[in-house]
Amino acid sequence: MRIPFSGNWKVALWRLWHGSIVGSGVVAYLTADEDTFFMHQFSGYLFAGLVGARLVAAVLARGKGPFALRRLAKPGVEAISGRGPLIRLVMPWMAAIMLLGFALAGYSGIAADWFHSAEGLHKALSEAAPWLVGGHVALVLGLLWRPKGGVVALLGTALSRLGRIASLLGRRVGVAFGAAVLVAGLGVTAPDPAAAGSPQDAVMAELLARAQAEDPAVTAFDPARGEALYLSRNTVDATRPSCSACHTPDPRNQGEHVKTGRVIDPMAVSVNPERVSDLGQMDKRFGRDCPAVLGRDCTALEQGDFAAFLLSR
Ligand code: HEC
Repeated sequence: MRIPFSGNWKVALWRLWHGSIVGSGVVAYLTADEDTFFMHQFSGYLFAGLVGARLVAAVLARGKGPFALRRLAKPGVEAISGRGPLIRLVMPWMAAIMLLGFALAGYSGIAADWFHSAEGLHKALSEAAPWLVGGHVALVLGLLWRPKGGVVALLGTALSRLGRIASLLGRRVGVAFGAAVLVAGLGVTAPDPAAAGSPQDAVMAELLARAQAEDPAVTAFDPARGEALYLSRNTVDATRPSCSACHTPDPRNQGEHVKTGRVIDPMAVSVNPERVSDLGQMDKRFGRDCPAVLGRDCTALEQGDFAAFLLSR
C-alpha cells in the first residue's frame, strides 16, 4: 500500500502527527480507569492538542497537501484500485469526520476535567471513538489496498461495484450517515424514558435473593450494620482506610477520590436517585472498593446492608 502523497517535509510531518494521534489516543482510551488517571489526563490533553494543531494546519494548508481538511484524491490513486468512484466519494470527508469525532471526544474530556457534570457526555463521546477509528481503518484498507488475486481480488471487485452504486446515490448519503453517527453518539447520553418506577426496589430484591442464597436465615437488611461498614476503619491500605475516605462520613455529601481528586457524586439515594439503581455498576464498585479498603470481598449480606444504609439516608 502506498500513502498517496509525494514525499516531502509536509508528508513527514503529517506522518509524525498521525503516529502521535494514534499513540496518544490509544493510551488515553486504555487508561481511563481511576488507577491510571494521571496517564489518562496527560495523553488526553496531548490528544486534544494534536487535534487542535491539526485544525490549525488545515486552515494554513488552504486545501492543499496532506493537512488539507478536504483532500481530493489524485487520479493516480484512483487508478491503483479501480475504486475511483468510492474514493472520490469518501476521501474528501474522511479527515473532516475523523477530526470532528476526535474533537468531540478530546474537548469534552477537557470539559470533564474542569466540570464534573461533563463526565457523562465525555464518556459517551469517547466510546464512539474506537468505532470511528475502526471504520477509518477498514475504509483506508478497502480503498487503497491493491488486490493480487484470489479472494482478495474478488473483494476488490465487490468494492468497486459498491463504489459505483455509492457514487450514484451521491454525497448526501455520506452526510446523512455522518449525521446519524453523531446523533447516535449523543443519544447514548439521553435519559431512558423506560426507566420509570423505582429501580432501587428491583436492586434490593436481587441483593436479598443473593444474601439468602448465601445464608437462608437472612430475612432483611440492616442499615445500621451498613453504616458501621461504611465508617469502619481498616488497615489494609493507609491511603484509603475507610469507605468514607472517598465517600465522606456523611453519604449525602459529595465525595472526592483520595487518589485522583475527582469529584464523586453523593451516595445517599435521597440526594442522588441514581444510587442503588444499577446492580451492574454496584457489583463493579463492590468488587473493587471492598478489596481495596477491607482486603477482601464484601459478602452478599454486607452489600445489602450497605445498600440499605444508602437508601435510609
Ligand atoms: C478510593 C476511593 C473509594 C473508596 C475508598 C471507596 N469507594 Fe466506592 N466508589 C468510588 C468511586 C470512584 C465510585 C464510582 C463513582 C460514582 O459512582 O460516582 C464509587 C462508587 C461506589 C458504589 C456504587 C454505588 C451506586 O449505586 O452507584 C458502591 C456500591 C461503592 N462505591 C461502595 C463502596 C464501599 C462498600 C466502600 C468501602 C468498603 C467504598 N465504596 C470505598 C471510590 C471509592
